[in-house]
Amino acid sequence: MNPNVLRPTSKRAVWLAIALAVVACARDDVKQTPSWRADLKTRTAVADSGMVVTAAPLATRVGVEVLRRGGNAADAAVAVAFALEVVYPTAGNVGGGGFIVARMHDSSAALDFREVAPLKSTRDMYLDSAGNVTDKSLVGALAAGVPGSVAGLWEFHRKYGSKPWRELVAPAIALADTGFITDSAFVEDLHYDSAKLARFPASVAYFIPGGHLVPIGVRWRAPELAATLTRIAEQGRDGFYTGETARLIVAEMKRSGGIISLEDLARYQAVWREPVEYAYRGHRVVAMPPVSSGGLTDALIANIAGGFDLRAMGWHSPRAIHVIAEAERMAFYRRNKTLGDPAFTSIPFASFLSADTAAALRATIGTAASPDPGDETGMNKGKHTTHFSIVDGQGNAVAMTTTLNEGHGSDLTVTGAGFLLNDEMDDFTTKPGAVNAMGLRQWEANAIAPGKRMLSSMVPTIVLDSAGAPLLVTGASGGAHIITGVFQVMSNVLDFQMPLADAMAAPRFHAQDYPDSILVEHGGLSDETRRALEAMGHHLDILAPGEDLAMVQSILRVNGRWQGVSEPRGNGLALGYPAAVR
Ligand code: DON
Repeated sequence: MNPNVLRPTSKRAVWLAIALAVVACARDDVKQTPSWRADLKTRTAVADSGMVVTAAPLATRVGVEVLRRGGNAADAAVAVAFALEVVYPTAGNVGGGGFIVARMHDSSAALDFREVAPLKSTRDMYLDSAGNVTDKSLVGALAAGVPGSVAGLWEFHRKYGSKPWRELVAPAIALADTGFITDSAFVEDLHYDSAKLARFPASVAYFIPGGHLVPIGVRWRAPELAATLTRIAEQGRDGFYTGETARLIVAEMKRSGGIISLEDLARYQAVWREPVEYAYRGHRVVAMPPVSSGGLTDALIANIAGGFDLRAMGWHSPRAIHVIAEAERMAFYRRNKTLGDPAFTSIPFASFLSADTAAALRATIGTAASPDPGDETGMNKGKHTTHFSIVDGQGNAVAMTTTLNEGHGSDLTVTGAGFLLNDEMDDFTTKPGAVNAMGLRQWEANAIAPGKRMLSSMVPTIVLDSAGAPLLVTGASGGAHIITGVFQVMSNVLDFQMPLADAMAAPRFHAQDYPDSILVEHGGLSDETRRALEAMGHHLDILAPGEDLAMVQSILRVNGRWQGVSEPRGNGLALGYPAAVR
């Protein structure tokens, strides 16, 4: 065994240190900002040096502790990502993939560690003999793309990390080994997916031991996951893509009818890409390029909407909602038709980024809703992706979004390895024109091919100030709603100068090319606005109370200090370092 690996006693010491640090962080000045929607109890954390905002409080605390020990934002991101694997398994990322957009040492970077289709995959692998789409892209071994997260985190750390790798994996090992007390968020996620999890013995052993779902308030330990994380801590990416972990993944494939091979795992590579950059209200926005659709789609929404004076129209006025919704529909139409893996598909960058294209599209927006394309799609539900935002005292920023796709991914736990595999293959076009689990109509550019990455909506985003320093660091979970949620938070801040808490709490809406409706959060529109939009010809689909669109995690710089707000509709935590004293 590698002598550098932390022994159980020292793991416990790390955990104790985290616990003590948490108590220290409790002094963090958490400002209660009067919220646009008081029911959401939005909290703003304020700090001078660093800030961590994640969907899971324990993971936030791990990140703050890394900053406190002198780690940079990249170090904290690696530690947070591994911690999320343990404490947030519904979206935990070791068996999935994702994207990082970072501003490190005054330059921008985008890292793609999206899953890829296994070498044995075929274009029509999810169709039955009658040509109908089956559920095999969603549940079980065949749904999994080759995971990318460990390779991505390893590569990100190789380029930007300052602390030893094993030190950054250690908190996650400690959490898995020592365990943590389950809360209602953890258990609710399990309840939501329990029927599917129950189909797989290794998932049952973890989450439904003895036939009973893990309850609230018990210590939950994950010893097999601790062993997997220890291999990753000792051997880096090889601890996942070769050796024992790879052997366990391939054995699970054989047992459960999957196709990921040792060769698939050994070949996996994360890819550095040129970020998508666009201007909005005088700011430079840095976002994820394809195989994320998010950067280009948001760029087109911003380029169209940016030509309107939204502020003069008034926040959430019928006219402002109308033009943003129309811009969203146009951008999604082009997204769905043209985008895919740039290694397989030619990406029409200009049609998303050029001012002329945006101006021509803007000119078609009149006073009435554009015609009904005549199709219906569903809405995606649940929490299966997770975003976190981190800044450090050196001015670095990391926005990372990672996903298993649906809740608990494919619901298949790798026997002996203690982590869930993704069901990301469903983000491909399973059949041209079919609608996927995220409610998106998919076409040829995103067809399945061996070694290809599936199109994504995840869009980690950093808005820069005029000096090129991070101003707003944001991103979200929520499938297609990620794209519109990120744009609306950005617009709330840049167009309407809302305090971050209000920008995050403000009700959101979502439009895409299909269906012909604007999804609106419950309570998000006054009766008057609703009537005005309907008079323009918009079909409004008002969500039930408690149904959400995107779940956003954001950091904003205000007067030289960081403000952090975790999604008011979620259970996450924003925590700064050092806490501001007021
Ligand atoms: O990459 C994508 O676009 C999807 N797999 C994201 C799924 C998602 O965000 C689900 N929910 N919160």
